[in-house]
Amino acid sequence: METDSGGLLVTRNLKKYFPLRRSLNPFSRVERRFVKAVDGVSISIPRGKTVAVVGESGCGKTTLARTVAQLVSPTSGEVLFDGRDMLELGRKEVYKNIQIVFQDPDSSLDPRRTIADTVGEPIRGLLGGSRESVEEKVMQSLAAVGLSEEQAYRIPKQLSGGQRQRVAIARAIAPSPRLLILDEPTSALDASVQAQILRLLIELQKNFGLSYMLITHNIAVAHYLSDIVAVMYAGHLVEYGPTKTVMATPRHPYTITLMQAAPIANPWKRNLLNIEIKGEVPSAINPPNGCRFNPRCLYAEGICSQVDPPLEEVSPGHLVACHFKEKTVGALDGNGKSQDIISTLKS
Ligand SMILES: Nc1ncnc2c1ncn2[C@@H]1O[C@H](COP(=O)(O)OP(=O)(O)OP(=O)(O)O)[C@@H](O)[C@H]1O
Ligand code: SF4
Ligand SMILES: [Mg+2]
Repeated sequence: METDSGGLLVTRNLKKYFPLRRSLNPFSRVERRFVKAVDGVSISIPRGKTVAVVGESGCGKTTLARTVAQLVSPTSGEVLFDGRDMLELGRKEVYKNIQIVFQDPDSSLDPRRTIADTVGEPIRGLLGGSRESVEEKVMQSLAAVGLSEEQAYRIPKQLSGGQRQRVAIARAIAPSPRLLILDEPTSALDASVQAQILRLLIELQKNFGLSYMLITHNIAVAHYLSDIVAVMYAGHLVEYGPTKTVMATPRHPYTITLMQAAPIANPWKRNLLNIEIKGEVPSAINPPNGCRFNPRCLYAEGICSQVDPPLEEVSPGHLVACHFKEKTVGALDGNGKSQDIISTLKS
């Protein structure tokens, strides 16, 4: 089952495999092996909406983002932007339309350049124009993220962490893109600053009609900001659908585990980085046969280690890849509370 194909950005069966370094012996007959970081992902980001991509560390979230933004080329599959094949768009057109905000502003901002210079860079490179018009756009972008003209002539270390992330966001919106990829945009920040940045992102989305691909370890952030949630496990999409539906009635055993494993009392602490889920995340080089979750899944039966389950619709727009998805109906009650905290995992 494919996800809706009418979005601003659509991926179809997108794969990104990284080849492992070859043996030093050039005549080696050992078969070439790959890290299957993204392995057949289809998502659709509607105009002006947010799709959150969640999953444990190493499941392929950043690789998906980098492939979508053409920072690395896909192994196979399609990425469509506004109905057009991204490969045909050319890099300049892609960067005009799609910008990325990374987790850590300290490593994404040049420490020696002024804020004005940094924010002006994509305007000069992608849009061009006179010095005055670039400067005007820089000031507009800084104002949109709540920074002043005076701050424009500082260097990054003369700003706070939250202000530096505002600069990274200003640089991203400067060329007037239509889609922002936000890779853990708040996880390097203090809790109070996180909330300010999330509010800013909501405001920018409303003001500029932006679409977001939001990568997050934090279930509460996904809940707060997204319209659609995409749950990844070992390079695959295992559950996908309207955020409210997936959060209230998750149906894939892995999603249920993620929802259960975090403290319910304080949803802002539902951070997947802090969650300890029984069993190992599978190797991206040698993933288990059949359903990749089967070594950890309590519901697993014989077919699970033989046949990879397809994504199938369980309610409008809500897709689940599990052979036994009817068994998970009602695994969480309507408040997201678990009935049995480890009911989906092997002991
Ligand atoms: N350039 C690369 N070369 C080889 N393997 C890579 C490369 N980039 C990522 N990988 C591998 O691909 C898999 C997915 O990595 P990715 O960074 O996409 O995960 P992630 O979900 O973003 O994790 P995290 O939550 O820790 O950021 C991992 O096994 C990682 O080691
Ligand atoms: S029941 Fe089978 S198919 Fe479903 S998640 Fe568990 S192992 Fe995968
Ligand atoms: Mg990542």
